[in-house]
Amino acid sequence: MIFETLAKTGHEEVVFCHNPDAGLKAIIAIHNTVLGPALGGTRMWPYATEQDAVNDVLRLSRGMTYKAAVSGLNLGGGKAVIIGDPNRDKSEALFRAFGRFVNSLNGRYITAEDVGIDVNDMEYVFRETEFVTGVHQVHGGSGDPSPFTAYGTVQGLLAALNVKFGNEDVGKYSYAVQGVGHVGMEFVKLLREKGAKVFVTDINKDAVQRAVDEYGCEAVGLDEIYDVDADVYSPTALGGTVNASTLPRLKCKIICGAANNQLANDEIGVEVEKRGILYAPDYAVNAGGLMNVSLEIDGYNRERAMRMMRTIYYNLGRIFEISKREGIPTFRAADRMAEERISSIGKLKLPHLGSARPQFMGRKG
Ligand SMILES: NC(=O)c1ccc[n+]([C@@H]2O[C@H](COP(=O)([O-])OP(=O)(O)OC[C@H]3O[C@@H](n4cnc5c(N)ncnc54)[C@H](O)[C@@H]3O)[C@@H](O)[C@H]2O)c1
Repeated sequence: MIFETLAKTGHEEVVFCHNPDAGLKAIIAIHNTVLGPALGGTRMWPYATEQDAVNDVLRLSRGMTYKAAVSGLNLGGGKAVIIGDPNRDKSEALFRAFGRFVNSLNGRYITAEDVGIDVNDMEYVFRETEFVTGVHQVHGGSGDPSPFTAYGTVQGLLAALNVKFGNEDVGKYSYAVQGVGHVGMEFVKLLREKGAKVFVTDINKDAVQRAVDEYGCEAVGLDEIYDVDADVYSPTALGGTVNASTLPRLKCKIICGAANNQLANDEIGVEVEKRGILYAPDYAVNAGGLMNVSLEIDGYNRERAMRMMRTIYYNLGRIFEISKREGIPTFRAADRMAEERISSIGKLKLPHLGSARPQFMGRKG
C-alpha cells in the first residue's frame, strides 16, 4: 500500500536505512524539493510498530514542505526517524551509520535535531556528511534553534494580537503556556519581560518550578491549563491538544504557540474559527528554528537570522488577510499560501547557474 499512500501524500522519495551492525533502522522521507533541498530534523523514538514510524515520518516531512514554503525559504520538506529509545539505544556507530545514509542522498535531504536528538548526536552525523544543520557553533554551525523558535513565536503572537485586539501590547494580556521545555521556557521569559501574566504547566515539575522562581509565572495543573481564564492559549509541548474535548473548555481569544500539529484535525480548525478564536497556524508561527538552521547552508550570521525572524510577523499578517478576504479558516489560508508559492516558483524556468547542491560556504570559510 506504500505507493498508494505516497500518491495521496505527494512524497517524492522514501528511503529505508538499515545497518544491523550499528543497530540502525531509520526512514528518511523527502516530501517535496520544488523550492530547494529538503530540510527537516531527525526524530528518535521507540515507535510501537514500523507502521507508526512510517506514518510519523510521512506526516512530519509533509509539514516541513509547508513550513518552508509559507516562510519564504528556498527549501523543500523532509524529515527522518530513527526507530529506537533515545535513552538506551544511542551510539557513535548508530549516528555515523545514519550520517552515511544522509550523505548518500547528496544534498537532496539535509538533517537537523528533532525530538530525542541533541547537538552531540549531530556531531557524529557531521563526521559522515556535511548535509546536516543545527551543528555546534564550534564547527561554524548555529547551535540550538529553540531560542529562535521562541522569538519567532513572539513575532507571530504580535501579528495575532494586532488582528484580534488592534494593538501589539504583549504585556496587557494573559497567557496559558503548556510546556516549558527548550522553546517554552524561553517563550515565557520573553512574555514576562513584557510584563504579561503567564500561567504554565508541564509534566516536568522542575521546569515548572523554574518558570515560577526565575520568571514569576503562575503554575497550574496539567489538565487545568485548558480551563485557565487567559487571553491566549500557547501549546508549546505536544501536538493535537486542540481537540473535541479541550476546545469547549478554552476561554482564550487566540491560540498561538510553538508546538507542531496543534489542531487534532481540520474539523476542529473550522470549529475554532466558528467560536471566534483566532488560530495562528503552527507551522508559520514556529518557523524560527528552521529559518535559523537554514542559514548554515550559505554561512551563518546571527544578525541575518534575527531579521529573518521578523518575517514571521509579516507572514502571519498575510495569512490573516487571506483568511478574512476569502472567508476561510486561518489554517486553510496558510496551506493556500504555501501551495501557491510552491506552484508559482515551481513554474519559473530559470537558467541553471551551476550546481543546485547546497554549498555550506559558512563552514568552509
Ligand atoms: N525546538 C525547536 O526549535 C522547535 C521548532 C519548531 C517546533 N517545535 C515544537 O515545539 C514543541 C516544544 O519543543 P521543545 O524543543 O521545547 O521540546 P522539549 O522537549 O524541550 O519541551 C517540551 C516540554 O513539554 C513537556 N510536556 C510533555 N508532555 C506534556 C504534557 N502532556 N503537558 C504539559 N507538558 C508536557 C515536556 O516535559 C517538556 O518540558 C514541540 O511540539 C516541537 O515539535 C520546536
